[in-house]
Amino acid sequence: MRILAVSGSLRPGSFNSALLRAAAEAAPEGAEVELWTGLAELPPYDEALDAGGPPEPVRRLRRDWAAADAILFATPEYNGSVPGGLKNAIDWASRPKSEAVLRNKPVAVVGASQGQFGALWAQQDLQRILGIAGARVVRGELPVPRAHERFDGEGRLLDEQLAQQLRQRLSALVAEAEGEPPGPLPLAAAAQSVAA
Ligand code: FNR
Repeated sequence: MRILAVSGSLRPGSFNSALLRAAAEAAPEGAEVELWTGLAELPPYDEALDAGGPPEPVRRLRRDWAAADAILFATPEYNGSVPGGLKNAIDWASRPKSEAVLRNKPVAVVGASQGQFGALWAQQDLQRILGIAGARVVRGELPVPRAHERFDGEGRLLDEQLAQQLRQRLSALVAEAEGEPPGPLPLAAAAQSVAA
């Protein structure tokens, strides 16, 4: 089972990226967690650019995300929500609608901040956005407050309880990915979805 790990932070010393590296180490047996980089290369979403044939960084995003069995997102919180760069990646991954790589993709979210709420609002918004994009969202948050106290100078996790929680989130994500994908929509719901 290949799980792609996407950090919403571009910062070299990012606690969210460190959280994903810790998740890779805490992964349950049979799950391989691989960090994805590529967020910084994406242009801002542009429908005209998409229609004319998107540039390589977008094609790479769509290739990589499509090939993953599931995706784990770690989001910082910027002004009470998801950082723009991460939202932008999700916008690219949500189109073209009929073959969007996020459609039916099992996903889960975690998040870290240096404040006391652990990017809780950003994680809630991220789940909402991913759900709208058609992903199968494993509901729930894993807020990591005061992130600067949870890692050593090399970005290694100091908190065994947090490692356990990461393993639990990954196990839930694996269970979702191993479950049956939803069948075709009932006719009335399908009509609504096309109209949307
Ligand atoms: C922040 N930060 C922040 N923290 C928070 O808990 N709630 C918030 O609304 C914000 N807003 C915010 C806006 C902007 C523009 C920046 C740059 C930062 C602080 C943020 O959580 C902190 O910098 C984290 O360390 C960012 O995550 P990474 O980069 O360590 O993964």
